[in-house]
Parts: sequence; C-alpha cells; structure tokens
Amino acid sequence: MLIRTLALRRRVRVVGRRVREARALARAFQSPHRPIVAQIIPTRRCNLSCTYCNEFDRTSAPVPVEELRRRIDRLVELGTTIITLSGGEPLLHADVDGIVRHIRRRGAIATIITNGSLLTSSTIDRLNDAGLDSLQISIDNVAPDDVSKKSLKVLDRQLRALAERALFDVTVNAVVGGGSASPEDALTIGRRARELGFQSTVGIVHDERGQLVPLGDRERQVLQETLRLQRSAFSFDRYNRFQETLAGGSPYDWHCRAGSRYLYVCEDGLVHYCSQQRGRPGIPLAEYTAGDLAREHSTVKPCAPYCTIGCVHRVAMVDDLRERPVETLQQWFGTPGSTAGLPRPVRLLVHLLVTGPERRFVRGAARRLLGI
Ligand SMILES: C[S@@+](CC[C@H](N)C(=O)[O-])C[C@H]1O[C@@H](n2cnc3c(N)ncnc32)[C@H](O)[C@@H]1O
Ligand code: SF4
Ligand code: SF4
Repeated sequence: MLIRTLALRRRVRVVGRRVREARALARAFQSPHRPIVAQIIPTRRCNLSCTYCNEFDRTSAPVPVEELRRRIDRLVELGTTIITLSGGEPLLHADVDGIVRHIRRRGAIATIITNGSLLTSSTIDRLNDAGLDSLQISIDNVAPDDVSKKSLKVLDRQLRALAERALFDVTVNAVVGGGSASPEDALTIGRRARELGFQSTVGIVHDERGQLVPLGDRERQVLQETLRLQRSAFSFDRYNRFQETLAGGSPYDWHCRAGSRYLYVCEDGLVHYCSQQRGRPGIPLAEYTAGDLAREHSTVKPCAPYCTIGCVHRVAMVDDLRERPVETLQQWFGTPGSTAGLPRPVRLLVHLLVTGPERRFVRGAARRLLGI
C-alpha cells in the first residue's frame, strides 16, 4: 500500500515536472537572451577534497539565507528558468531545503549537485517537501582512493535511500580522467544507477581553465562505453557529441553562451561565465542587466574549443535547436541531410512545429497550453 502511494506521488510529480520543463524550454525558445540555467553557491566549503577539484575550501561560512533569496529573486527577474545549487557542498548549508523551497515558490526549476555524503532519509524527505526537481549525486569510483572519496562503496546506502524515497529525478555523475587508478569504475557506477532507475552521466575532467586534460587509452574507451550505456532517445544525455569529439583529442566547434544562457553566481554574488572562468565578467548579480545577457550571448569565448564543462555545452544545444532545428536534430541522431532516419515521434514533432503547413497554429496552441 505504502509502495503504491509512493509510486503514485512520484508519477504526479513527474507529470508536473515535465510540464514545467516543457514550459521552460518553450520560454528559452521565445527569447535568445533568457538565462536557462544559473548555478548558485550556497557555500564554498566542502567536507571532501577531491584532488581534481578547485571549487571548494575548508573554511568559508555559508551565504546567509536572506542574501541567497535576494539572488534567486534577481535571477528570476532576469528570466532564469532553472536554478542549481552547487558548491562546495550545498548540503552543508543548514537551510538547503528552505533555499529550494524559495526557488520553487518563485516559479523556477530547482536542482542540486551534491557529493551525497550528507544525504539521509530525513534530508531526502525535507527536499521532497521543499519541491526539489532534480538531484545530481557525484560518484567517481567503486572504492574510495586518493583522488576521490565519492565512491559506490560509501554512497550505495544513499543511492538505495534515494531509490526508496525521492520524489525528484536522480542522476549519478562520474568524472572520467581525474587520475583514478580504475577508470572502468565509471561503467559499474553507470550500471548501478540504471539498475536503481536513475539517469547516469559522465563528465570529462577539466583543468583550472575548463580545458580538456588529454585522456589515456583506457579512459577514452571507458568514456565511449559509458556514452553507449546512456543512449536513450528522449533525454539530453543522448546528445554527447562534444564529449565524443573531445575524448578523441579534437577541438569541438560550438558557441559557448556563458554569461547569457548560463550564469555562474559565486558565493560573493558575482556573475562569472562558469566555475573555471571566474572573474569574467565578474559583475555583481544585482547589477547584471539585459544588456549584459545580450552581449554575452554573442561574445566568442576563446576557451570554447577544448572546454569540457558539460552543463554549459548542454545549455548551448538549446540555441542550436532554436536556430537550426532540423539540422541540429539530424546531427544528434546521425542522419545528416535527411529527416528520414529520425525516430518517428521526433519526425512528427518536426513536422508539426517546424516544417508542416499547420506549424503556426500548432505553436500557438502549444504556447496557450503551456500558459506562455
Ligand atoms: C564542484 S562539485 C560541487 C558539488 C558537490 N560537491 C559534488 O561534488 O557533486 C560539482 C561537480 O563538478 C565536478 N567536478 C569538480 N572538479 C572537476 C573537474 N576538474 N573536472 C570535471 N568535473 C569536476 C564534481 O565531480 C561534481 O560532479
Ligand atoms: S565533493 Fe565536490 S566540491 Fe567537494 S572537493 Fe569533491 S568535487 Fe569539489
Ligand atoms: S567555453 Fe564557456 S563554459 Fe567553457 S570554460 Fe570557457 S567560458 Fe567556461
């Protein structure tokens, strides 16, 4: 009975979430300068010290809740649709669920990236109650080593608790190329995630400027196998061409929209391109304007060709889809020059929204349906 109630609550949440995600995507399509994702840092402090990471310290105090609320309000005023809590370790902030609740109250999608070490059943329940939409738990290896303590051995208990109680989406992310003695662990982690009904993703390690650190043969192989494991027609993790290209050591041709579609707001409330390009532009969020968003949308970032920062790549895909929908879909599905190879539902959507004679009517109806 209890299990059936949980399954029902989950289903209700999923439906609501998918509608809000569709609305967020439609809004991103409407305006090219609207931020899609903003990462905010509730605390720079972390309880771990992964050797590949430069995004934490041991001493910082948490950002006061009032200040975080002001930042969230400003991000929403700028039109931001997804607000992610990262760090440092965001679960070290005592009022993390209050912050999530505020994001949801202001109408944005709320997500968290965590090392999972502080997740308990009661934290999961509090995040459920606050309305969290999605949680990414980072796991790098099967057993803890000198590089990372975020291991399956330590965190499997938390994964099981998430599988039993979480009403939000869960993704397990492993970093490949960080110097771990057994890169094959990423495959075991991905399989365990799928077994529990979660998504799994991999990140390619970057240096202190966000740039690719060349992968060894084993790491490259593992990455390719993990990407195959992730194949699913309708999730964004399906579209990892940038990782395949970079893993082979080649530059990737894309337009980074950081500072516009993606904002990184540090603990001091400054807007940066991303965690690895702090100081650019380094403008206080309170003073960040529509003009800044427009400028950064077209600024070419010299660090783009070898950048491995996955969340910014994925956000940029929305603009590819917005500007060149058919070509972008063909590229994602590996069917250049033809729509015939696209999965049938995608072909139908292309017809209804992009190429078909009734497209204006369908787009209008979709906008009305989504309340935009
Ligand atoms: C900086 S952490 C902050 C959140 C939390 N402490 C965690 O570990 O999930 C956010 C994500 O960045 C990843 N990360 C940190 N340093 C990285 C690097 N040099 N290359 C690639 N990913 C990195 C982490 O593994 C994690 O998935
Ligand atoms: S747990 Fe996260 S913030 Fe902490 S050191 Fe590891 S990657 Fe960095
Ligand atoms: S390309 Fe964009 S996301 Fe990547 S390092 Fe440069 S500014 Fe950051």
